[in-house]
Amino acid sequence: MGFFTSAFRIWLTRTWKPFEFTKSADTAFLYQNTEKLGLYVHIPFCRTLCNFCPYCKTVFEQESVNQYVEALLREIDMTGRMLNGEKQSCTSLYFGGGSPALLAGDIGKIIDRLRRFFIISDGIGIELHPNDVTEKNLFTLKQAGVTKISIGIQSFQKPYLEMLGRKPDDFHSLFSALAKISFETVSMDFIFALPNQSLETLTADIETAFSNGANHIAVYPFIDFTFTGRKFMKMREREKKRLLYQFVNYCHTKGYVRDSIWTFSKTGMSQYSSMTRENFLGFGCSATSLLKDRFRINTFDVQSYIDRLNSGQFPAALTLQFTHRQRMVYYLFWTAYSMRVNRSDFYRFFSEHLETCYGWELLLARFFGFIRKEKDDYVITTRGSYYYHYFEHFYTLAYIDRMWNIMRNEAFPENLIIR
Ligand SMILES: C[S@@+](CC[C@H](N)C(=O)[O-])C[C@H]1O[C@@H](n2cnc3c(N)ncnc32)[C@H](O)[C@@H]1O
Ligand code: SF4
Repeated sequence: MGFFTSAFRIWLTRTWKPFEFTKSADTAFLYQNTEKLGLYVHIPFCRTLCNFCPYCKTVFEQESVNQYVEALLREIDMTGRMLNGEKQSCTSLYFGGGSPALLAGDIGKIIDRLRRFFIISDGIGIELHPNDVTEKNLFTLKQAGVTKISIGIQSFQKPYLEMLGRKPDDFHSLFSALAKISFETVSMDFIFALPNQSLETLTADIETAFSNGANHIAVYPFIDFTFTGRKFMKMREREKKRLLYQFVNYCHTKGYVRDSIWTFSKTGMSQYSSMTRENFLGFGCSATSLLKDRFRINTFDVQSYIDRLNSGQFPAALTLQFTHRQRMVYYLFWTAYSMRVNRSDFYRFFSEHLETCYGWELLLARFFGFIRKEKDDYVITTRGSYYYHYFEHFYTLAYIDRMWNIMRNEAFPENLIIR
């Protein structure tokens, strides 16, 4: 498998050069005047740790939280000061985790600090654990400026909740809190391809979501990271493909709008996506930042994150300097996640025509029915979305799993080479 991963990478990036991350002493990460810049803040605290979840997280502990928030504000200040008093325009701000609402009372303070330096035009989103969806928390978050929420339901069904190591939640109080406090987007996350999951169980879950306050859903295919403790059987690839086709067809007949590979909006009016942005700045441990020519990742270790900032240094651990083609592949992968790639946007970003760079690949993808042309866009078909998923899964395990594994064990690794 390693051979095929490398061969495919070499073909698409048109270079033998692997993705080579080097230790960030951290000097300049020059984001000033970047267009379409998104912001992300990582909050790594959870009440308990779920065995299937790969994200950077640790058990909530008030003293550590206090130090973390202070460090986060310092990181924002140090980054913001690079603007020399000019405010930078940004698209959206997303809080992810972990369970950021465990710090609901601090979210307003963090947003205000970011607003000293950034103008946020497209709203503020936050991930919520179902237990944190209370009227009090929702009110606090709305007051702080949050406009979109995403709730990690995973499933409404007892057997699946038990399988995922979650106590069956009290969904009635969650629904009643949602009925009292409104947000522009209320998204709910579900896990796709759990054992014996069928069209009936999956659609029952999303209908429950859409009838009880959600206007958007995400169904994430289960990814079996090597360092998590999955305790159930994985669904076979052929079954996954059939379930995906049935599910997409179901959503289509109900009029739900697919706005990315794994998300659907009830009416097409709501969106929740922190993934498909051209450039972004990340704050907090494990947060990544992406610019036109580089990608940077902060340390995963909470205490090292705090210590670095207390000593006046950035908490960046590794930086990747992209080649032009590596950046194109990265851009295409994440833009395709939104189900369409716009030719003019590609030209604006790279000053090169998409067809000049990837003419043969586009022809092949059209021939196999993975994409179709629609005016200025290449649109991913349902068939294409399955293969996108296949490659995403494969590369997540080959690249992200490997990177996170190293970052979980070493606060500041010397380097990281991904072939
Ligand atoms: C950072 S997590 C969870 C946010 C929140 N703390 C919660 O527990 O609901 C964001 C989403 O990633 C998804 N997720 C977590 N682990 C996953 C895995 N191994 N494979 C696929 N999706 C996963 C879940 O749907 C989850 O809601
Ligand atoms: S799924 Fe949510 S609550 Fe569970 S460990 Fe991951 S971030 Fe924490």
